[in-house]
Amino acid sequence: MTLNIAVLPGDGVGPEVIAQALKVMKVISIKFNHNLNFSFANLGAIAIKKEGVPLPNNTLKICKNSDAILFGAIGDPKYDNNPTKKIRPEQGLLELRKQLNLFANIRPVKAYETTLKNSPLKKKVICGTDILIYRELTGGLYFGEKKVTNDGNYASDLCSYGRQDIERISELAFKAAKNRNNKLTLIDKANVLETSRLWRKVVKEISNKYPEVKLDFLFVDNAAMQIVQNPKQFDVILTENLFGDIISDEASVIAGSIGLLASASVGDKHALFEPIHGSYPQATGKGIANPIASILSVAMLFEHFSLSEEAAIIKEAVDASLKSGITTPDLNNKSSNITTEKVGSFIIDYIDKID
Ligand code: IPM
Ligand code: MN
Repeated sequence: MTLNIAVLPGDGVGPEVIAQALKVMKVISIKFNHNLNFSFANLGAIAIKKEGVPLPNNTLKICKNSDAILFGAIGDPKYDNNPTKKIRPEQGLLELRKQLNLFANIRPVKAYETTLKNSPLKKKVICGTDILIYRELTGGLYFGEKKVTNDGNYASDLCSYGRQDIERISELAFKAAKNRNNKLTLIDKANVLETSRLWRKVVKEISNKYPEVKLDFLFVDNAAMQIVQNPKQFDVILTENLFGDIISDEASVIAGSIGLLASASVGDKHALFEPIHGSYPQATGKGIANPIASILSVAMLFEHFSLSEEAAIIKEAVDASLKSGITTPDLNNKSSNITTEKVGSFIIDYIDKID
């Protein structure tokens, strides 16, 4: 298969983890005879620095012309600590999601046997957890009208959703549940928010098309508790943009490190793959960032193109690295000297040697 991949390493540890993800893509392309063409572009703080804007036109063009986008991370403390800055790195990613209509963000959360000990949660609580989060990505508070008064003493962000926004992601989430354990939980705040009541109404209607899928509803405050108290009750979670952002970071505690969580953001035409961790500025340049979230994002990329064998081999190699203790310090308390690069090299060697 020929695939044109836009590569946006982004900020902080982004370039370091993406370098490992690219090594994996290359070794897979050789093994399976795929023709992968990479085009690199800037997004985020690096784009502001080099091209003056967080999402340069050229980056958008490269992404639009690609079959898939591999993205690293976004953000810089310089902006986080200065709320008066009008141009911000994150605007680049948000604009890209909007422009490419990447409305569904899919985040798998799994408790790996070998990393149970890395979670602060009890083994018996998390063991066997396997959750797939469907987070709506182009609506809600993130994209509603924003206001701030001239004196800077009043601000507002509008949360709005239309029926179609809810329908299109719900269809994907129900389909996913049908292929898994037939359970879907909608997380909302329908006791307070009009938008949540609309979500419940529309999701209930759609559920009629999927009678085999058991539909549950949970208020987000309760869900935040349940996800660490009894995560095994969840199969597919469906939720709006901000709730999904928060719940997925929380759920990463189950995996033992956020450095293990991959994601896919898909729309009708385009797809972007990225680790869910951010730019991790404290770790930048130290070689300690976990490349596994990015490498598993590559597995999701191959899966997206129905290249399941490629994806399975990557996951097997990741499992092997975890089992062998070839892990970055986030997973290894004995102040590991295993670097981002070493984890990547172990994984590609493993892939290379599989028959
Ligand atoms: C994520 C990130 C982004 C988000 C930020 C960087 C804008 O936290 O992908 O989860 O909030 O969506
Ligand atoms: Mn987030």
